[in-house]
Amino acid sequence: MTEDSKPVRAILSINQLKKGMTIISYVGFNEKYQSITEETSTFIKHNFKNSRARISRQNKELDIGVEQIAPGDTLHRIYKLPPELKKLTAVNEKLVQALMRRGFMKFEVIKPVETQEPAVKKPLTKKQEAFERSKAQANKFVNQLKENVGTHNQASQAVENIMDNARKGKVSYSGVTEYVDVITTNSSAEAMSAILSLKESDQTYDHCIDVGVIFQTSYLKILKSKGRKSIFENEAQALLGAFLHDFGKSKVPKDILDSTVRFERDSQEMQLMQSHPVFAVELLAGMGMTDDIINMAHYHHIKQDTSINSCYPKGVSYDEVIYETRLIAIIDVYQALVGKRKYKKSWNPPAAMRYLDALAGVEFDMDVWDDFMQVMGLYPKGSLVELNDSSAAFVMSISEADPEKPQVVVVRNAAGEELTHHTLLDLQEEKDIEIVKDLDVMEVFGKDAMEVFTKINIS
Ligand SMILES: [Fe+2]
Ligand SMILES: [Fe+2]
Repeated sequence: MTEDSKPVRAILSINQLKKGMTIISYVGFNEKYQSITEETSTFIKHNFKNSRARISRQNKELDIGVEQIAPGDTLHRIYKLPPELKKLTAVNEKLVQALMRRGFMKFEVIKPVETQEPAVKKPLTKKQEAFERSKAQANKFVNQLKENVGTHNQASQAVENIMDNARKGKVSYSGVTEYVDVITTNSSAEAMSAILSLKESDQTYDHCIDVGVIFQTSYLKILKSKGRKSIFENEAQALLGAFLHDFGKSKVPKDILDSTVRFERDSQEMQLMQSHPVFAVELLAGMGMTDDIINMAHYHHIKQDTSINSCYPKGVSYDEVIYETRLIAIIDVYQALVGKRKYKKSWNPPAAMRYLDALAGVEFDMDVWDDFMQVMGLYPKGSLVELNDSSAAFVMSISEADPEKPQVVVVRNAAGEELTHHTLLDLQEEKDIEIVKDLDVMEVFGKDAMEVFTKINIS
């Protein structure tokens, strides 16, 4: 070994750890390791068996075996880890993730020669290549979402404007075509669909945009997986049609439309609200929309069981409701459940999926529901979940093989600290990590939800 190819010792923070390095001491800890609890003391004794520790106890620094650690001690260093603890010393992505969750911050390491020289790249296996692709896609998803929050707001404003104009007798959809074009050209509908669960939205205009982008995304994926053809002339028409599904609401007075009060079942207000599908027929026909787009606006509140109260207009056979309308009917309810409004508690996406699953076959077409669930997953992208080590993670991609095990990114560790270093975990590969419950993103992050999500940068 030549002089300059000797391994180098260094003190590194968690973000600087790289695969191939060896940890020789743990030297930085979060506040959980100051005046430690019974539980933390047991955890250290159990996991660092036969190692040495430097601690403070009653203002005295002591050098002890970890088995002597006691509640109340403050930990400064764990070192002399025996060879059988290789899983705590050999750095790899899984270890870094675990250390981060456990609040270990600084380490004395030996850098191997390879990490200092330009690495000779080994060809990746197929599995590694697929994982690298997933990481790139997840980062792209986050960036696209970040870049399109503005477009979402503007498009929503444009829908409000065309509805206001229609209310005044000026019927035109030209104000929204610009956004339809931007979204279809940039293929950003999928990333925009996750905005729904990250910020507050209004019940009419944001609703139209959310329903539109979710429809566009899921419809295209369903067509691809089934090898079917779109009924729309092009993608822009599909998106436009979905945006306009509630255009009939432009005939409903604004104070009724924007009201947050629940109207009585047979009240005049409710009757007006429930007329919006019928109002849409003439409006959309006047705008030169196709029969299919009109079907979506006219029949999106028709339930499979047409005797259900919330099914309107009455007297329509379910046979008249085309596939695309049956799909938008599901998305319409999904958006209403997940949409965050000031006056109602919203559902998180996985809970909404489970609720809708129970309605399939009664309110919704079972086959269409199956298609939708297949592409959305049980944990739609952007859902926040809690893992079995109490950390919080965002779902980044769904798994067709096992819908219970998507790919996730941990954003907050068990100690409640936000992470600045993000890694993608494939729950199909990580056998000891699993989702234990859904989290309400607003309850966990409040107004910062969007910021926490858009800061994700997977390395
Ligand atoms: Fe509607
Ligand atoms: Fe709607």
